[in-house]
Amino acid sequence: MKVVISVGGSVIAPTLAQENFLKYADVIRELAKEHTVLVVTGGGKAARDYIGVARSMGANEAVCDLIGIALSRLNARLLISALSSAAFQDIPHDYREAETAMSSHKVVVMGGVAPGQTTDAVSAILSEYVQANLLIVATSVDGIYTADPYINKDARRLEEVTTDELVKIVMSTEMKAGSKSVIDPLAAKIIERSKVSTVVIDGREPQILFDVIKGAHVGTRIIH
Ligand code: UTP
Repeated sequence: MKVVISVGGSVIAPTLAQENFLKYADVIRELAKEHTVLVVTGGGKAARDYIGVARSMGANEAVCDLIGIALSRLNARLLISALSSAAFQDIPHDYREAETAMSSHKVVVMGGVAPGQTTDAVSAILSEYVQANLLIVATSVDGIYTADPYINKDARRLEEVTTDELVKIVMSTEMKAGSKSVIDPLAAKIIERSKVSTVVIDGREPQILFDVIKGAHVGTRIIH
């Protein structure tokens, strides 16, 4: 199976500690024995901190996006270090480079590629480009809710969501650099058009990836 895993920065680097990267690397290395694995890392809190400082000095949103991309690539670099020889050692700048890297039969790890989106969109486009069988979006919430559960107490977690409903839910998200949503609107539209099988999970404990790949019902499954 060909699997793309989008790992939010807040998931892989809740703090800047080697254990966080090493525990993810152990699971990915294991999965890569049986599957072709491509990983897209997010920038997380570090990206938001850097973006906040740049914005306070008057940087425009596109510049802030470029800062977010740089931080996501730094997390990619740390995951490559943790994976050591199991990983392709360069970080692809685009989808074509990622596809070429895949022919090395090593785990491909990349970050952001272009302003105006998040690494969720990168992982959705990458899934489309390499014709992945499965896209796993590993976030720090346990799935997609009918509304933001931190704001709305009546929000319910959905076990399944159609791409139509998903697009409606996420379209209310703000488009500013570093803004937070469980999945970005562009990613939702790409998932809708490519019809790639997608699961959104709480990835803070990477072992959950073994269950997801076996088809266990965890998180939210996006249905087409
Ligand atoms: P992330 O993908 O890390 O955002 O990109 P996120 O998913 O909200 O955060 P975590 O990692 O799950 O906590 C961080 C920022 O980098 C810029 C955007 O500004 C985004 O908000 N970015 C990232 C881009 O502009 N283009 C990209 O391709 C990727």
